[in-house]
Amino acid sequence: MTTPKLPTALTLTTAHLILEPSTARDASELFDVLNDTRLYTYTGGAPQTLEDLRTRYLRLETQRSPDGSEAWLNWTIRLQATRRAIGTLQATVTSEGIATVAWVIGYEWQHRGYATESAHALIGWLMSLDTLLEVRAFIHPQHEASSRIARACSLQLTSELVDGEVVWTMLLPSRRS
Ligand SMILES: CC(C)(COP(=O)(O)OP(=O)(O)OC[C@H]1O[C@@H](n2cnc3c(N)ncnc32)[C@H](O)[C@@H]1OP(=O)(O)O)[C@@H](O)C(=O)NCCC(=O)NCCS
Repeated sequence: MTTPKLPTALTLTTAHLILEPSTARDASELFDVLNDTRLYTYTGGAPQTLEDLRTRYLRLETQRSPDGSEAWLNWTIRLQATRRAIGTLQATVTSEGIATVAWVIGYEWQHRGYATESAHALIGWLMSLDTLLEVRAFIHPQHEASSRIARACSLQLTSELVDGEVVWTMLLPSRRS
């Protein structure tokens, strides 16, 4: 049995941002961005310690799940002008061609369109992958900002709820054989 080809993250560039595949070297900069309880209002969870972030990003450098069956792709969002890290993007891609995406922008850089700009670039890149059949996002029903980002990226709201989060989806049915 052949293993379907899983994607590897590339650097993506937008009008104001550079999206770089995250490495353990980014941990300390990302700690400064993510160490803020306000970022976890709708997603749950809590800020990680610097040590935990280092371990996490070291692990994520492989870009694969522990059993190798999924691509676990993570980007550090940087301002083009200064290269400062301001957030993160995530895409989990299964061998069945389903990508689940998520975004975080540090509190002081919010409301400037950066999440929408990043998400557009990420979803555009995912759609360019031959093997991709669907893009999904799981969003708390009261999370207006994230819902707006999904809508701006042409994801459709579904009635499916998973662990209290609404599923948004974009199907690429023409690729199904
Ligand atoms: C969700 C998040 C990424 C948005 O980041 P951002 O850079 O401020 O988003 P944008 O500036 O691109 O704005 C996106 C849309 O949400 C709207 N918006 C932003 N903050 C909002 C708020 N607090 N309430 C309502 N709408 C809001 C914007 O007006 C924009 O809508 P529009 O394009 O229709 O005008 C950011 O708030 C965040 O990181 N939150 C914590 C992590 C999180 O919850 N991630 C989502 C996981 S799916």
